[in-house]
Amino acid sequence: MTLVFQPPAPDHVPAELIVDFDFFKVPEDVTDPVQIWHRLARDGAPPIFYTPRNGGHWVFLRYADIVEGYRNHEIFSTRGAQIPPIEPFPVLQPNGVDPPEHDVFRKILAPMFTPLAVRRMTEGLHRRAETLISGFAGQGGCDFIADYAAKFPTGTFLELFGLPEERLPEFLRIANVFFRSTDPDIRAANLLEIYAVLEDLFREKERNPQNDIATTVLQARDSDGNQFPWQDIINCGFLLFVAGLDTVTNTMAYVWRYLATTPDARQKFRDRLDDPAAFLLAIEELMRINAVSNIYRRVTHDCEYKGVRLRKNDRVILPNTVANRDASIFPDPQTIDLDRKVNNHVTFGVGPHRCIGSHLAKREIMISLQEWLRQIPDFELAQDQEALSVFGGSVMGFESLKLRW
Ligand code: HEM
Repeated sequence: MTLVFQPPAPDHVPAELIVDFDFFKVPEDVTDPVQIWHRLARDGAPPIFYTPRNGGHWVFLRYADIVEGYRNHEIFSTRGAQIPPIEPFPVLQPNGVDPPEHDVFRKILAPMFTPLAVRRMTEGLHRRAETLISGFAGQGGCDFIADYAAKFPTGTFLELFGLPEERLPEFLRIANVFFRSTDPDIRAANLLEIYAVLEDLFREKERNPQNDIATTVLQARDSDGNQFPWQDIINCGFLLFVAGLDTVTNTMAYVWRYLATTPDARQKFRDRLDDPAAFLLAIEELMRINAVSNIYRRVTHDCEYKGVRLRKNDRVILPNTVANRDASIFPDPQTIDLDRKVNNHVTFGVGPHRCIGSHLAKREIMISLQEWLRQIPDFELAQDQEALSVFGGSVMGFESLKLRW
């Protein structure tokens, strides 16, 4: 591994803990972006190391440390933790604040995403899946991402926010820039654009309240009966926008890519079409093995963690894919066992910020797959897939995924 000191590593980082690693860059020979993380472990990187790339940050490679990064908000804060740093960055509600302040918006959102609340969305999700899939099922092939995996969660988001379906392309475009760009100017302009869209949205909901998430957040009141600060309301909308789109799209891409190349697994899922519990158990394993998010934290004060000196404002990255294949936690971790019973994966995080949308995300994937297998029981990768590009970053995935049947 080459060591690059650009920008120079800070003086509290010893040379033996420095590794040149850029989690946005996927080398040309890598066809699956999660492999850049697993290569690190295989090539003997220290379990806690520092890379000077992307503004400089620490990387945790053990399940136990990744879980500690999630749980210990006294050292590892979510506030302003972006990598590379974006200053100033909006304080996302509730993700960008630590407990106990964090509880305020968490409590507003949580009731809208309980298992029961999500079960009530089932019919709408089925309808969306059926309509989208029947649009191309007769064509013998599609680009799974453009034709389905990007549209489905974005359409769901628009519905939850009471927005018209025609705005799909606009939301797809701004989400794509938010997740993929590392150019500071483009990122700054993108943030302004997202905020302008959200400002309009919430102003419209103020004039015309409806039965949707945006209205619920607007109508929430603090203990004195007052509306929450306008900026917090918008920042909450912003979080919901970025949290539930690209994550679902790319998890789906991984799942379909696996199924396209694994006939046995397709058969297992087809056999479980009328057994939702067994179907969900198998989805859970695909969630473990296909953890697309890499999560950021910022160190709150100078301290020592496991013998490593950390300095206030150091950034840390928690790669879920690495935690989920830690052999000390998961027997035979690289094997996809669709009947795995004990599955403490961290794909949705753990601790106070654990994903609010996890039930929705799993239901979106489950319903999509059920509907897909009913209409397209067998499918495979189209031959030209190899040449297509992949990306790393906070959410990893594929630019496109061409399937045929
Ligand atoms: C497969 C899809 C998804 C994955 C892999 C995923 C992953 C995660 C992870 C790892 C976190 C923890 C972040 C942290 O600790 O800083 C998180 C938080 C969150 N997710 Fe998801 N997510 C997914 C889908 C969704 C969906 C569909 C929604 C809702 C529409 C959603 C809403 C949220 C929110 C609001 C938080 C912040 C919770 C808090 O800070 O208290 N997510 N997600």
